[in-house]
Amino acid sequence: MDAFVIQGGRRLRGRTRVHGSKNAALPLLTAALLTDEPLLVDDVPDLSDVRNLLRLLESLGCRCSRRAGEDDRAGRLELQVVDETADRADYEIVRTMRATFNVLGPLLARRGRAVISRPGGCNIGDRPVDLHLHGFRALGAEIHSGEGYIHAQAPASGRLQGARIFLGGPFGPTVTGTANVMSAATLAEGRTVIDSAACEPEIVDLANLLNAMGARISGAGTPSVTIDGVEALGGARHTVIPDRIEAGTLMIAAAITNGDVILENCPLEELTAFLTCLDAVGVQWELVDEAGDKADASSDSPDSRSQCVRVASQRRLSPAAITTQPHPGFPTDLQAQMMALLAVADGNSVITEKIFPDRFLHVAEMLRMGANLVRNGPAVLISGVRHLIGAPVMASDLRASAGLVLAGLGATGTTTVNRVYHIDRGYEKMERTLAELGAEIERVEGD
Ligand code: EPU
Repeated sequence: MDAFVIQGGRRLRGRTRVHGSKNAALPLLTAALLTDEPLLVDDVPDLSDVRNLLRLLESLGCRCSRRAGEDDRAGRLELQVVDETADRADYEIVRTMRATFNVLGPLLARRGRAVISRPGGCNIGDRPVDLHLHGFRALGAEIHSGEGYIHAQAPASGRLQGARIFLGGPFGPTVTGTANVMSAATLAEGRTVIDSAACEPEIVDLANLLNAMGARISGAGTPSVTIDGVEALGGARHTVIPDRIEAGTLMIAAAITNGDVILENCPLEELTAFLTCLDAVGVQWELVDEAGDKADASSDSPDSRSQCVRVASQRRLSPAAITTQPHPGFPTDLQAQMMALLAVADGNSVITEKIFPDRFLHVAEMLRMGANLVRNGPAVLISGVRHLIGAPVMASDLRASAGLVLAGLGATGTTTVNRVYHIDRGYEKMERTLAELGAEIERVEGD
């Protein structure tokens, strides 16, 4: 298994572009199963999670090819279903990544049936799928479980039936559950209203693609989404939104190294809670134009979701109290990275995890680097230290691993982050991006 070896203490400088969003791309790609016409999707990041999903889509009769577009954009994918007979997603593939569960809604809606392995737990918590299944049952599907598989069947008419569905759970709405049920409802008979829908930007991006395919969805991005079912969907062309979590991770990389970095294609509007925390901690960020000069925040950019931002830090940072919440709150997917930053702030901070209360496997590894952290249930108390100290550490999940890389960039000495396959799931060539900004980081190939 590959590792990253990082010599800490190098200030990051320069400019880089944020990739397309992993968590937007995954449900977007499953929408190909809702039609037999082609979908052309730009800015799909080249990640192991995306490759695994494409493998599953291919086994379900979808032809997937990477194509160079007329503007030669990287990451352009063309998808088209050529055979609609398959209906099964095996454990072998579902266990690699939970987002594969999002083929269930499209299969059920278009093919009238699906058999899919029940995803297991994962390193960040139990992660049940009861809300997804509740949504499909409300749409009239029959669902049975047995031998680790879920068998789902549309009503005898072959079409799901619109319904009013509450999708709130104990920790708030479900993101992929909202995407799954919303996708299925596009082809249902009649109107579906999802109450307590997830408001994440990835849901808005999916609704925009589905509407471009002919769906009739309104309210995406609010807690109440209305879907008026249509008989068929067609092809479309779409560009994936920028990855707000990669953007936040790179901003912290600039801050923790006292660097000065410009990020292009940065979805600032989707990061308000995170930026408020950066302000509280004392990290400087500002909108800039193409040339890197300060831009007028009030002027309308052609796409205000993808802007250029400059992030810099030259001083000791202040502590902060952070609670993760559903969007537009502070994202759980930036919790571990923010912990690395607060570990070297002046004074005492606290992070409370309200989405995945056990998402703290990075704490023990950061302790090995000299961080002063005390976990108390769903909260971690952080007493800032002057420096973290490089050490060998173990990546446990995607974002925890990103937090360890950031800790290593800011630490004195050498940090080896083992098992970086977790990082390859969600950050496209992270070591190359960081090295181009001046980090001393290299991938060491393992078994
Ligand atoms: N939940 C239930 N029942 C369900 C589904 C969820 O109780 O049927 C609970 C979960 O246990 C959790 C909460 O609801 O406490 C939120 O889970 P959610 O379903 O929203 O998470 P998800 O859709 O499985 C997506 C992202 C995660 C991100 C979470 C929260 C994708 C592919 N995954 O997961 O991203 O942490 O939303 O924002 O979009 C990552 O990128 O590293 C990652 C884990």
